[in-house]
Amino acid sequence: MPRNIIKLLRKYPGSWDLPELPELGSPTTEKGLVVEAQNYFSKKFSTNQCWFGVNGASGLIQSGILAMAKRGNYLLMPRNIHTCVIKACIIANLTPILFDIEYSEETGHYLPITTEWFKKVLNNKLLNDIQLAGIVLVNPYYQGYASDIESLIYLSHERNIPVLVDEAHGAYFLFCDNYGLPKSAVSSKADLVVHSLHKSLNGLSQTAILWHNGTKVEHENVQQSINLLQTTSPNSLLLSSCEESLNDWIEINSLRNFQKRINIAKNTFDELFKRGIPVVRNDDPFKIILNTGLYGIDGFSADKFFYENGLIAELPEMMTITFVLGFAKQKNFVGILENLWNKLLLTIKPHKQLKNIKPPFKSIQMPFITPSEAWMKKSYKIPIKESVGKVCAEIVCPYPPGIPFSDSWRNNRSRKS
Ligand SMILES: Cc1ncc(COP(=O)(O)O)c(C=O)c1O
Repeated sequence: MPRNIIKLLRKYPGSWDLPELPELGSPTTEKGLVVEAQNYFSKKFSTNQCWFGVNGASGLIQSGILAMAKRGNYLLMPRNIHTCVIKACIIANLTPILFDIEYSEETGHYLPITTEWFKKVLNNKLLNDIQLAGIVLVNPYYQGYASDIESLIYLSHERNIPVLVDEAHGAYFLFCDNYGLPKSAVSSKADLVVHSLHKSLNGLSQTAILWHNGTKVEHENVQQSINLLQTTSPNSLLLSSCEESLNDWIEINSLRNFQKRINIAKNTFDELFKRGIPVVRNDDPFKIILNTGLYGIDGFSADKFFYENGLIAELPEMMTITFVLGFAKQKNFVGILENLWNKLLLTIKPHKQLKNIKPPFKSIQMPFITPSEAWMKKSYKIPIKESVGKVCAEIVCPYPPGIPFSDSWRNNRSRKS
């Protein structure tokens, strides 16, 4: 945690829990300390404006979407979009057009989007007669894979379409230019970028920031959309955590410490690889993915084993388990993981056949009815096996990662519901 937040929390209990006093203001007031801090950061990173958020990246992504698109508009997005985007589509009656992404059957993970792939998506004839209000991209993915976001933004801007980048997992990239990390979408001039400060900086849970750039999305629309969804009593501790988590990555001494941690994290991967642990290369040094599927072990059984032995992972999936190192000092992570991995191999019986099959999605698909219509209709629960050919009232989506894995989207819009 940033030193100033630690100091604040040591003060008389509750003394930091202030209401929206005129001196403090809130993210959307004209004046006050919160706005001053926001102005400072937006100037520092050459953006039009930024807003702190106290309802996670989810809240600010939804505000960003409402700022880009109006009722009945279309938004283009990849299959691995976070659930909060679909929920915003439900609220505003927007139509998400989902495009497929290349997929690794070995890990069960979506792969980064290449420029060629994205060009094909944008040139797909399904989009010929559709005016897109915006494009939503996720970068990096939960497991740390990153695309060349700058070129994807460029291709969208070439067509005059605004882009919102969900960079929930990549806030710290912004502070580490020239450090061999993916380029931040803020420096790449996306129109809207959302960072989850509790996921990828050292903010408290629920803290986030929205950055606004360019002229494709109106400033007033963003401000109004934040006002529409934001609580009228934003928590002052969370707001100061937004400010201090960003300050901590600007202050030169703490930044040096974080850069050391990045190097240690890179070495951690190399060392695990050298020791024969089945780690999967990705673009975020703090994400360590273990390909348990190579040994016939599913990620959920591995997660249970690690958890029961005191090592807590972030994200178990069918073929893998992903650990997040975080920015604190690691106490012998390599040794602990190696030891437990060897024990796990002796303890868990592998599946005879553990296979991951690519979901049979078309390269680009429209929902049969809008998520909003589906949500409003009467619905009933059925086993997933019986759901083929039916319309989902809500997305089938495990958390984490909050990414839908099954749905009933159709590209045949003339079918009756
Ligand atoms: C890719 C992605 N975007 C957005 C979110 C939402 O972030 P938050 O939990 O801060 O609302 C998540 C949460 O897991 C996520 O994985």
